[in-house]
Amino acid sequence: MKEKLLQEFFKVFGREAQAVYFAPGRVNLIGEHTDYNGGHVFPCALTIGTYAAAAKNADNTLRFYSMNFEELGVITTELSNLKKEEAHDWANYPKGVLKVMLDAGYPITSGMDIVYFGNIPNSSGLSSSASIEVLTGYVARELFGFDVSFVELAKIGQKAENEFIGVNCGIMDQFSIAMGKAGHAIFLDTADLSYEYAPIALEDAKIVIACSNKKRGLGDSKYNERRSECEAALAKLRTVLDIHSLGELSEEEFEKNRSIIGDPVKERRAKHAVYENQRTIKAVAALKANDIEQFGKLMIASHDSLRDDYEVTGIELDTLVSAALSQEGVIGSRMTGAGFGGCTVSIVKTRAVDAFIKNVGEIYKDKIGYAADFYVVDAGCGPYTL
Ligand code: GLA
Repeated sequence: MKEKLLQEFFKVFGREAQAVYFAPGRVNLIGEHTDYNGGHVFPCALTIGTYAAAAKNADNTLRFYSMNFEELGVITTELSNLKKEEAHDWANYPKGVLKVMLDAGYPITSGMDIVYFGNIPNSSGLSSSASIEVLTGYVARELFGFDVSFVELAKIGQKAENEFIGVNCGIMDQFSIAMGKAGHAIFLDTADLSYEYAPIALEDAKIVIACSNKKRGLGDSKYNERRSECEAALAKLRTVLDIHSLGELSEEEFEKNRSIIGDPVKERRAKHAVYENQRTIKAVAALKANDIEQFGKLMIASHDSLRDDYEVTGIELDTLVSAALSQEGVIGSRMTGAGFGGCTVSIVKTRAVDAFIKNVGEIYKDKIGYAADFYVVDAGCGPYTL
């Protein structure tokens, strides 16, 4: 991979890159739409992700090129004039990160030339955008040699997404990418960013991702809508409860007070946030106790809640999950990420993986009309230099 990136850099910019860097994608095992509600999440970084070959340049110009979007050519912009531009498409992610870093006073003292290549499917819900964000922060740190922690790189990526891109996302994606650890998932409390690594050495099972190939489309605006529905529900609950987030509530406390929300839709959104947080805590406890069956049941309950109460699944993801659950050797299955398209994650007995991919693939294609893609994945580590 390193050679491929170095060669491409030379081809595009006619000079040598200083180094090649990598940041992973992520998959969330459970804890969906809880990260902006002060709840827990349980994602892991992947071994697939985004690569960058980069070098500083002698002027104040940023030149970005993606091997995934060759038709867009080299995207050029001035370091002193970083604003979101439709025509810059994917390059708005690195631009946003560098803008946040410059505003925070990090010494990015010249332009850079960067070639990117990602092997995460785009718009799949495996965080290709957060991967580019964290990678770009890491590239700047390495090229200019300043000190910035990986947790800070995650926060910078989230800020770029919120303020530059305009998606009001939580911290999960950037955090799990920046802080990934091979063979482990991260049990993160988004209320205070305390975290714990949990080994996911599944004895005789694999994590299988199924990509629906349904692009997210209007997903970003729906995402922001869900977030404001939760905020509105919280505001109502706060008229009677001394809480700062939905993540502070147990199921019982929620049930006692839910009627105060006064709107059936917002009530269901809040219910999901509260119950999903509790499910995540229970799921990690189950995993620690080696009770993978219980972990799987909680994954299934998570999907049901995302479908019925949070309404972020859709026919494609629901088909993948119900097809998965009809197969032998499946421990659990659910949508992962924001929803509205993207991927599902399933835990499948190793011996059943091939049949799973074949059968779920057929059922999906028959019903939806186009194919899904499958990836058997491992938990990978955070950013590094190749
Ligand atoms: C997207 C966001 C995350 C998180 C998930 C849903 O991936 O970027 O912050 O909210 O959706 O769990």
